[in-house]
Amino acid sequence: MSDWKIRRSAAIKTEITVPGDKSISHRAVMLAAMSNGTCVIRGFLPSEDCMCSVGAMRALGVEIENPEPTTLIVHGKRGQFEAPTADIDCGNSGTTMRLVAGILAGQPFRSRLVGDASLSKRPMRRIVEPLTQMGAKLTTEGGDGRPPLLIEGGNLRPLQYVSPVASAQVKSAVLLAGMFASGKTSVAEPTQSRDHTERMLEYFLVRPQIQDRTVSIYGGQIPESQDFMVPGDISSAAFWLVAAAAHPNAHLLIKNVGLNETRTGVLGVLVRMGAHVREVVEVDQAEPLGSIEITGARLKATRIAGKEIPNVIDELPILAVAAALAQGTTVIADAKELRVKETDRIAAIATNLRAMGVQVVETEDGMEITGGSPLHGAHLESFGDHRIAMAFAIAGLFAEGETVISNTECVATSYPGFDRQLELVMKDHRPSQTPVISHVPH
Ligand code: S3P
Repeated sequence: MSDWKIRRSAAIKTEITVPGDKSISHRAVMLAAMSNGTCVIRGFLPSEDCMCSVGAMRALGVEIENPEPTTLIVHGKRGQFEAPTADIDCGNSGTTMRLVAGILAGQPFRSRLVGDASLSKRPMRRIVEPLTQMGAKLTTEGGDGRPPLLIEGGNLRPLQYVSPVASAQVKSAVLLAGMFASGKTSVAEPTQSRDHTERMLEYFLVRPQIQDRTVSIYGGQIPESQDFMVPGDISSAAFWLVAAAAHPNAHLLIKNVGLNETRTGVLGVLVRMGAHVREVVEVDQAEPLGSIEITGARLKATRIAGKEIPNVIDELPILAVAAALAQGTTVIADAKELRVKETDRIAAIATNLRAMGVQVVETEDGMEITGGSPLHGAHLESFGDHRIAMAFAIAGLFAEGETVISNTECVATSYPGFDRQLELVMKDHRPSQTPVISHVPH
């Protein structure tokens, strides 16, 4: 158990890179494992969540070399996996459990997916329903649609699925299962969610058809092995973007970061709040990547709702911190999904912001945050949720006094080294030699 103690800090003026994209890293190892040859993946995010996907593929007989933390050499199994000899541990990772379930639905053997205490509370019915309609047998042993997930797969039929939620994990689980069905499987979603699976299928020469918000795929195709470079994670960049956006004297350049339009909503929100943002796409292969330059400002409140929500879903904790630093009342609505993330993020954000002296009205699908008053340092919980821990570490940089965040190990699920990077980013900008972040072991 380790806590962080954060001190108030001055504006940042620096240039950074962020670790590889989590969503893309999961998909890269899975598609490579399904492919017909050897794929070298560079820029892979060696976080606990992504290593669960590596572990899952290895448990299915895939040989994966890991010569350095961010490089994987994956020897594809041509879509024919081996039955696991034990439970597959998905740790804290919803993406691992839901996407791997899609692959396992197409395999002619039994497997069991388990997760940690947080993942064991998350809803799986959203994938169980379509995968069952395709002919797989799935049982949620946790009751009420919760993990562990027992899967007996094989002999899938194609499905035309209209998803009730805008979830890239649901869309991806159905598409991955569709790779093993005979015929055309399609998924329509109510609002566009991140499109990394579609892009990666295209890159591995499995041609999905995309029409409006419906993605279709013909089963029976084997992905052509390709080397792949994972761009930096814009969801990780978001913490630094807000740290810079909320300081009128700050200036930050983030290089080599993913700029996929289904993920860059955070930039639009920060522009509406008054920050100056310039994004430049430098490479556009399977995924666009480039740089983001941001200059801070006195932020003003905004409304974040509707179609924008799936695009910023993982950034809402840090955008809530931006709202607390902005003049006026920011409204976040249509974001009920936040209640079924690694923790109930609406409750967690409201609790922590209130502890810092911010006025928050919690609603069923979001919150109203009245910002602009000074934040007070406080003793906060991570609630075992990486994005809550990191969002409030950034809040601590703006607070009077000291902020302590408990149980920060969870940050390793998506951003190992965040604490070291925070100290580095702030090194030249802190008022004295006292570190900005220190560790309080238990
Ligand atoms: C993810 C999709 C999103 C996101 C999650 C990662 C993915 O979840 O919140 O962190 O990699 O597909 P949903 O698909 O459930 O909205």
